Amino acid sequence: MSGVTVIAHISDLHVTGDPARRARIRAVIDHVNDRAAGIDVMVVTGDITDDGTPAQCAEAAEIIGAARVPTLVIPGNHDRRPEFSRALLDGAATDLPLNRSAVVGGVLYLMCDSTIPGRDDGWLSDGSLEWMESQIATVGADTPVVVCFHHPPATLQMPFMDGIRQIGEDRLAEVIGRHPNVVGSLCGHAHSGAVTAFAGLPLVVAPGVSATLKLPFEGEGIVDTTQPAGIAFHHLDGFRLITHFRVVV
Ligand SMILES: [Fe+2]
Ligand SMILES: [Fe+2]
Repeated sequence: MSGVTVIAHISDLHVTGDPARRARIRAVIDHVNDRAAGIDVMVVTGDITDDGTPAQCAEAAEIIGAARVPTLVIPGNHDRRPEFSRALLDGAATDLPLNRSAVVGGVLYLMCDSTIPGRDDGWLSDGSLEWMESQIATVGADTPVVVCFHHPPATLQMPFMDGIRQIGEDRLAEVIGRHPNVVGSLCGHAHSGAVTAFAGLPLVVAPGVSATLKLPFEGEGIVDTTQPAGIAFHHLDGFRLITHFRVVV
């Protein structure tokens, strides 16, 4: 390896049980697997299922389990914590935020649960923010930290999604601002490969695997099913994030 970390980032798989959806997701996993020798980790930033049912969670676990790179997951607003935890995490059914952390290849990944049960918008609880602080404190200042959650904590010029984004973001920005070793934030939810700044650092939204959501000038309706599935490949060169986007036809 070159010393540069490579992160495959996918989001919004929305497993439904439909064979066509399953094939579309599986093609993305295959795309990653075919390049696994160059990839350090895969992060999946939520809406892994469409309704959060046990059957959808089981199918999602099977599809994601086929990945041949270390994989880190968080729920989105379409997932349900107890079922998600049982099928895709450690097996414990819980209504508590599903925050997890992992150090992979010398990089700390904070997988933060921004969901609010029963709602489509997002929020990181005070407890989740305290958890972030405690996790960052366990590594040295020379360890890069990548923060991941489902809901973008900033507007994206997408009126529908902006209405159900992550709120309370000033508190998150304060946490990130206290730690110079945080390199940026990765999220999903918007179903649109997008980059902006948050807390003075990159905020990268993964393209949607299941479908793309339109910008206001891209025609009637919100969902665009003609676009192919997408994936983001992030490189971490020291503390600098470099992102390339790919489609999976
Ligand atoms: Fe989604
Ligand atoms: Fe979402």
